[in-house]
Amino acid sequence: MQHKSVMPREALEALALAPGHKAIDATSGLGGHSRLLAEAVGEAGLVCACDTDAESLELAKSNCSAFAGRMRFVHTRFSELPQKLQDILPADALLADFGTSMMHFTSGERGFSLMNDGPLDMRLDRSSDGPTAADLVNRLTERELADLIFITGERRSRQIARALVRGRPVNTMRRFAELVESVSPRTGKLHPATLSALSLRVATNREYEEIEALIRSLPILVRPGGRVALITFHSGEDGLAKALTRQLAKEGKAVLINKHVWTPSAEETRANPASRSAKMRVLEMKQPLGKQGETDHGYSGMDI
Ligand SMILES: C[S@@+](CC[C@H](N)C(=O)[O-])C[C@H]1O[C@@H](n2cnc3c(N)ncnc32)[C@H](O)[C@@H]1O
Repeated sequence: MQHKSVMPREALEALALAPGHKAIDATSGLGGHSRLLAEAVGEAGLVCACDTDAESLELAKSNCSAFAGRMRFVHTRFSELPQKLQDILPADALLADFGTSMMHFTSGERGFSLMNDGPLDMRLDRSSDGPTAADLVNRLTERELADLIFITGERRSRQIARALVRGRPVNTMRRFAELVESVSPRTGKLHPATLSALSLRVATNREYEEIEALIRSLPILVRPGGRVALITFHSGEDGLAKALTRQLAKEGKAVLINKHVWTPSAEETRANPASRSAKMRVLEMKQPLGKQGETDHGYSGMDI
């Protein structure tokens, strides 16, 4: 399964890159968007392709080899960006395409996939000494586990937590999925453990704390007048992006460029069903002087 970069045309339009610009791809993944950014900044520009997953970054490096001279690959998480990139800051633009890539699901080895069994790891950064998903499931109290499962709004979080605690040790994705399914039977097409697995991934990688750190540090990362595009995939991510970008606007640190969130075209969702839930929010970091207003670009969108 190959990862197809989401909303590539819209990302390029949002970031308004020009030759010579410095751009940060905060979530390089397999390098799909990074390659497009590298083309847009030309030979005189620079793209910092960043990812917390060293294995993805190696693939990005090889996928972007044609642009090696204008790229820097940085193993970092969002909260470390101001420190890791300090010699190039502020950049002209930043892209963040949150979540995981298809690469994480192609085998069971990383512990993300409900379709392929494997150790319940789920760490995006396997070099970190942070807890694995199995550590959380096996060590938290039932109450803490119920709160964790509820992160994504899973309505049966309490019953699921009870089943997981009774079924310990839980060291594989298959065991996790079976225990969730024992109290949450299949109804539609979605696997009954989908939301619980997402909650566990979000908690294992402290994804919400990381998104918050990224958005709060945008005034350091991107120059006034520079553009930021944030792509989210589920309501937890998007709610956070919405609240925090509004806060930046209220503080006079950024202007929200799109009146509606941008969503993928019907053509893109047909070709890449995984893009279906994507929403893009675009900001322009605030100029110290001058007047900016909201613009609407004509893509399909929904109220924000
Ligand atoms: C949707 S994928 C990006 C795909 C990429 N845009 C492409 O076109 O190939 C999201 C990436 O963000 C990375 N990521 C998630 N949380 C992160 C964090 N806190 N810091 C840095 N990278 C993170 C994941 O490892 C994953 O590779």
